[in-house]
Amino acid sequence: MEIIILPTEVEVYKEASERVVSLIDRKPAAVLGLATGRTMLGICRNLIEAHKKKRVDFSSVVSINLDEYLGLDPGDPLSYHFYMQENLFKHINIREENILIPNSLPDDVEEECENYEQSIKSKGGIDLQLLGIGRDGHIGFNEPSSSLKARTRIKTLTDETLRDNFGSTDGPRFAITMGIGTIMEAGEIVVVAVGEEKAEAISHMVEGPVTASCPASALQLHPKVKVIIDLDAAELLKRKDYYKWVWEHKQAVEKPQLLYRKKRFS
Ligand code: GLP
Repeated sequence: MEIIILPTEVEVYKEASERVVSLIDRKPAAVLGLATGRTMLGICRNLIEAHKKKRVDFSSVVSINLDEYLGLDPGDPLSYHFYMQENLFKHINIREENILIPNSLPDDVEEECENYEQSIKSKGGIDLQLLGIGRDGHIGFNEPSSSLKARTRIKTLTDETLRDNFGSTDGPRFAITMGIGTIMEAGEIVVVAVGEEKAEAISHMVEGPVTASCPASALQLHPKVKVIIDLDAAELLKRKDYYKWVWEHKQAVEKPQLLYRKKRFS
């Protein structure tokens, strides 16, 4: 995992959104795995801004969302369909036929989940998956105890997640989510977190054991993960000085010959 600790949340959102912009620059028909939640709002804002400045063109991009609540109408302001439409899609030039979000009102949930997996495959798989993280270490809606190999399926949300997302336990209890197994197949993963309330989940994800008690810890087994966080979210990391050194000397780490040369001649 590459741990990138930045001083402010503004820098966190900038770093994460620039990853997306540069991917689309390299691969105009990129398949983006998108997430929702408060953390993603800063990234959406930056992507809209970049689009307005003509730095990024979404016309060939495919977007695949991680999850959706079950039982909500797509027009319901609590639904992720609504979130994506309002906070990103209506402001950029993505094509409607290139947008995939799990159906919130399927006749057959199991069939919907299987179809979702098939659609991801038919798009060629996800190039870059953006992820937030829940305070309990969930990614997508893979709550603690989720199988680390699971595919897209229905999950039951915990009280903590309901309170975090709706302010009470009255919100929708069930969701369709990509499984950890599905997420792990993305070519590259970028996890974003800000604020001290995420510090414990981040420390378990990065420095804890790989365990279903912290589903995000499975990402330790993925070869290309970037964790972009602010100082507050990094607070409980034991090796944060090491991570900071690596990031500050990124060029030297990637091209060590430059560092040696500089040393020899300075
Ligand atoms: C929800 C989403 C997750 C997201 C999490 C964190 O539970 N299903 O994908 O990571 O919220 O959200 P926030 O950024 O609001 O803390």
